[in-house]
Amino acid sequence: MQLRYLTDYRITSKRVMLRADMNVPIKDGKVENEERIDRSLKTIKFILDQGGKLTLVTHLGRPQESNKVQEEFSLRPIAECLEKKLNRPIVIEESLHALNSSKAELAMLENIRFFDGEKRNSPQLAKELTKNCDLFVNDAFATSHRAHASTVGVVDFVNEACAGFLIKEELEALENFDKAKRPIVGVLGGAKISTKLSLISSLAKKVDFLILGGGLANTCLGAQGKEIGSSLTEIGMYQDVKAFVDNEKILLPSKVLVSKDKRSEVREKDVNDLTEEDCIFDVSPDFFISLADIFNKAGTIVWNGPMGLFEEDKFSYGTLEVAKQIANSNAYSIVGGGDTISAATKAGILDSINYLSTAGGAFLEYLEGKSLPALLALKKKALESPKDGA
Ligand code: 3PG
Repeated sequence: MQLRYLTDYRITSKRVMLRADMNVPIKDGKVENEERIDRSLKTIKFILDQGGKLTLVTHLGRPQESNKVQEEFSLRPIAECLEKKLNRPIVIEESLHALNSSKAELAMLENIRFFDGEKRNSPQLAKELTKNCDLFVNDAFATSHRAHASTVGVVDFVNEACAGFLIKEELEALENFDKAKRPIVGVLGGAKISTKLSLISSLAKKVDFLILGGGLANTCLGAQGKEIGSSLTEIGMYQDVKAFVDNEKILLPSKVLVSKDKRSEVREKDVNDLTEEDCIFDVSPDFFISLADIFNKAGTIVWNGPMGLFEEDKFSYGTLEVAKQIANSNAYSIVGGGDTISAATKAGILDSINYLSTAGGAFLEYLEGKSLPALLALKKKALESPKDGA
C-alpha cells in the first residue's frame, strides 16, 4: 500500500487541515527546542504558498481532556515562535465552534488533547474537526503510533487525505535503515527495559552488535546474577531478559560509573566488582572507547536512549562518549528520541548525524517492525479514493 503526498493534490483555495507534531519542550513560556517546528515548516510553507487556507492541529504534552484550555499546555508559545518564522499572524482558536466559523487564512486549533475524545479516537470529535476541511494532511510522524481522532479518525470524514513532506523524509530515512549497510550497530539506552523488550528482540535479529546502556543494561547485569547495589533496575523483568542476555551480539558495559548517591564521589568500577553500596549512574566512557573498532567499522549505526543520568553533567560522560564515537565513525547514522536528540545536542554532534528523526515512540515502533496506525489510515484512504477527488 502506497502513501499519497501533498504534491499529488491541487491546494489552491482549499481549506487544508494539517496535523503536525509540535510537541516541543516549553520553559518559562518559550519554546526550548524548535527542531519539530522547523521540520514542519516545509509543509506549512508549501500549503500557504499554493494558496491553501490552513488550520494547524497539534498536541502539546499530556493534559486532561477537559474541553478547557489549561495554560500550562497552551499552544501560545508555539504559535508565537511559528509566527516569527513565517512572518505572518496565526489566529489561535480555542473551540471547534470558533474554528469552524473562522475566517483566518492561517489558524491554529488550541492543543488537540484539551478536546474530549482525542485519545479514544472519538468519531464525533473527528467529524467536528473536519467539518470545514477539503484536504487533510498528516505530517506528524512523531505521533503516527497513536490512533487518535486527529491522526486516524479524521481520515474517515474527509474526501482527501495525504502525508506531508516530513513524513516522506522520515520514511525515506528509515527505509534506508531497512536496507542498511553492514555491519549494523544498535545502541540502546534509557531507563526501563520493559518498554524496549520487543525492540531489543527485533533489533537483535537485524543488527550485528547491540550495545546496551542505562537502566536497560543494569537490568541485564542484574539478570545475569551480578551485584548491582541500588542501581535502577526492573527485577520483574529478569526472567524475560535471561532469554536474550547471553546472545553474543548483545554487548553489556564492562565498566560503569558508580556513586553511593547522586551527591557522593563518582568512581569507575568493573561490573564484576560492584558492592551493595554502589549505584550505577552512567556507563564508563572507557567501555565505549574499547568498542572504537566496532564503531569505526560500522556501515550503519542507530542510536536511541541515554547511557546514564546524562541530565547531570557528572553522569553524562558515557552518553557523550557514545555520541563522539558515532560522530567520528563513517557509518550512516540514525538518531531518534527526545532525550537522545538532547544528548546529541549537548555533545555538539548534530551536524555529524546523517538522519535525526523527530520521533521518539513512533521511531522505536517503526524499528520494531510495528505498523503505525496513522500511516495505515492514510494508505487505506489512498486505496479507496482517486487523487485530487478526480
Ligand atoms: C512524542 O513526543 O513522542 C510524540 O509527540 C507523542 O507524544 P505522546 O507520547 O504524549 O503521545
